[in-house]
Amino acid sequence: MLTPEQEDLIAATAPAVADHLDTITQRFYPLMFERYPQVKPLFNQAHQQDGGQPRALAGAVLAYVGLRQDPQQARGVLATVVSKHVSLGIQPDQYPIVGECLMAAIGEVLGEAVTPEVAAAWSGLYEELAGLLIELEEYRYREFEQRPGGWRGTRRFRIADTRQESAVIRSFVLEPEDGGPVADHQPGQFIGVKLTIDGEPVYRHYSLSDVPNGRHYRISVKREPQGRASRHLHDAMSVGDTLELLPPAGDLTLADGDEPLLLASGGVGQTPMLPMARHALAAGRRVIYLHAALDGEHHAFRDEVAALAAEHPQRLRAVSVHERGDAADHIGRIDRKLLASLLPEDARCYFVGPQGFMTAMDQALAELGVPGERRHYEHFGPSRPLDAA
Ligand SMILES: Cc1cc2nc3c(=O)[nH]c(=O)nc-3n(C[C@H](O)[C@H](O)[C@H](O)COP(=O)(O)OP(=O)(O)OC[C@H]3O[C@@H](n4cnc5c(N)ncnc54)[C@H](O)[C@@H]3O)c2cc1C
Ligand code: HEM
Repeated sequence: MLTPEQEDLIAATAPAVADHLDTITQRFYPLMFERYPQVKPLFNQAHQQDGGQPRALAGAVLAYVGLRQDPQQARGVLATVVSKHVSLGIQPDQYPIVGECLMAAIGEVLGEAVTPEVAAAWSGLYEELAGLLIELEEYRYREFEQRPGGWRGTRRFRIADTRQESAVIRSFVLEPEDGGPVADHQPGQFIGVKLTIDGEPVYRHYSLSDVPNGRHYRISVKREPQGRASRHLHDAMSVGDTLELLPPAGDLTLADGDEPLLLASGGVGQTPMLPMARHALAAGRRVIYLHAALDGEHHAFRDEVAALAAEHPQRLRAVSVHERGDAADHIGRIDRKLLASLLPEDARCYFVGPQGFMTAMDQALAELGVPGERRHYEHFGPSRPLDAA
């Protein structure tokens, strides 16, 4: 519990912390990886390079200064963090590590301004936030463990089948090695995957590209030319090989209701859209399924979506857009004019793809009058504002 004096000290020093956020985070991660190398594999090193993730963690601590008066709002804002943490199996005993290194980085960067009283105030704030995250994460771990087919920690799965979906995307069907049932996920959620590459653990997130079925999960992975995990999955793993999974998580899920849906994706961003479309159609909703790909060769799940459209001719309209070639409904890019011609009245819109794609979608949908609370998206990397394209 922070004292009123500590709250005043935090308010007085928060602007200095905000001004030096980048320097603090640049110091924090190397310090933590040096002191506690055991946590390094949890962090995607490519996200470290582009700066998005480092700023996110320290930025969230700073944002909490303004949020802590409203616990309900704080829980809502922290939902994305909790999802990322849960799908990586973050544990309570790792919080003091982050706290110690964050405080050390703040001390190094702000120097004499960090008196013992200021340090104690920020440590208190960190502990309060850590306590809240630990509580929210434990709730999710316990809830998932208690579901039929759920588990805690990692569970080993076997690749039961693979399928090349496009020139660069391959699906992997994963069945539990123990032969038990598999807990349901919510369509649109992702799962934490733990691979072992050259003897080292490597963690990544992958959206579940099929609806829950009690028997297996499916992920669909784009091979990144220099990517560590995706190249390993594509080039070194096949049917019979095993990997570990952490609990599914994520908040890009269908809001209840019967409004029509616009599900728009660019490239591999299609993966969460497939189960959402299936689920929505089964519930009797109308779906506009808009997918943008580079060309025919890079257009994944074409047959799957066509079969779904044949099953639901009245309620599913599938529209393809390719940047080049002549194998799509539209050639070029999704623009406002195309969206205007497809967008049903009162639609709820979900979109996932590269940052530029999502920024353009968000802007065009806003201009077409879709309010913020009906525009849903997710980054396949650290979350960041869409206007930062
Ligand atoms: C919620 C969520 C859902 C996701 N769903 C999916 C999905 O369904 N399908 C899917 O394919 N992916 C998905 N991803 C992305 C996935 O988690 C991985 O990030 C992706 O597979 C790349 O991982 P990698 O190890 O192959 O590449 P990494 O090794 O992480 O590299 C990523 C990119 O960064 C570049 N890079 C690597 N190191 C450096 C460096 N030092 N400097 C500069 N550039 C560098 C690489 O060339 C590569 O292009 C999702 C991510 C999230 C967060
Ligand atoms: C109060 C403490 C913490 C805060 C405020 C915090 C905040 C965040 C935020 C904002 C993100 C990014 C979420 C997103 O991209 O949507 C994140 C991701 C992450 N956090 Fe935390 N976190 C905390 C503690 C921890 C701890 C203790 C660990 C474990 C060592 C941890 C490990 C991670 C990892 C591995 C990621 C994903 C990184 C990646 O994309 O490579 N965090 N956290």
